[in-house]
Amino acid sequence: MNLAEFGPVCDEGWRRVSGTPGFLSEREARFLMLAAAAAPADGAIVEIGSFKGRSTVGLAYVAQRYGLGRVVAIDPHTSPSTTDPDLGSRRSSYEEFQESLRRAGVADAVEIRRAFSQEVARDWSRPIRLLWIDGDHVYEAVKQDLALFRPYLAPGAILAMHDVLGTWPGPLRVFVEDVLGSDAFGPAGCFKSIGWAQYRPADGSARRFRWRRRRLAVVARQLIPVALAGWKTTGLGRWRHRFWWRLLPHGTVDPARWAARVAIK
Ligand SMILES: C[S@@+](CC[C@H](N)C(=O)[O-])C[C@H]1O[C@@H](n2cnc3c(N)ncnc32)[C@H](O)[C@@H]1O
Repeated sequence: MNLAEFGPVCDEGWRRVSGTPGFLSEREARFLMLAAAAAPADGAIVEIGSFKGRSTVGLAYVAQRYGLGRVVAIDPHTSPSTTDPDLGSRRSSYEEFQESLRRAGVADAVEIRRAFSQEVARDWSRPIRLLWIDGDHVYEAVKQDLALFRPYLAPGAILAMHDVLGTWPGPLRVFVEDVLGSDAFGPAGCFKSIGWAQYRPADGSARRFRWRRRRLAVVARQLIPVALAGWKTTGLGRWRHRFWWRLLPHGTVDPARWAARVAIK
């Protein structure tokens, strides 16, 4: 990927994402597009949880521009979900999802898998360059999504998980325990509510990676009880929450520096 060209591609990608309903901020969308474009690995871009297509559109636009194959978008689009209480009794998102892809001009760049992630995992066999987990946010479900698809991450692939620093304790716990705590991952960090890590089975145990992951884990772990309490804290709890929150780097990502960080030499 030519990073000099990425700026305008990302701007155009965001223009299309911004016209799509769903749950993803501008900075998160830009990060996700960067991860899809710059992941130094071959394989599929896999999205678990598409809803009305907001993140799908960004991923698919980048895939189209850089010839990265079709984005595999997994979502049963059935409501209510058995384990995601947020979905309530709303009707299916499937028609709006399809309409979003058409409107953004990326319908041809998406392989739609209208199924639960665990169903798709049963016959999955392809390597993955970017795994975007944004499906069922309950702890057991996030843990399962990672466990089912992790074996297919190509070395150098990027794992990105939504709402790690959001209103759900499940993704945060899985990120701390199963990602930051694992030597199979190398560089890692948070950006807005996204937790990300690079799959580096060969050298993830190197000191430079392990130390940074551990430092992040020490801080992020302190936020699990806060997330479990719905991020509502008072008195001393609020002070502790703010203290740890400020210590957790989750701000600006410079595309060139980030790409250099995950480049495999
Ligand atoms: C938070 S929304 C996804 C938001 C979307 N990525 C966006 O950018 O707006 C979560 C979605 O996950 C889907 N979902 C829930 N459980 C799932 C599972 N086991 N496998 C795949 N998708 C699932 C729901 O149907 C819902 O559409």
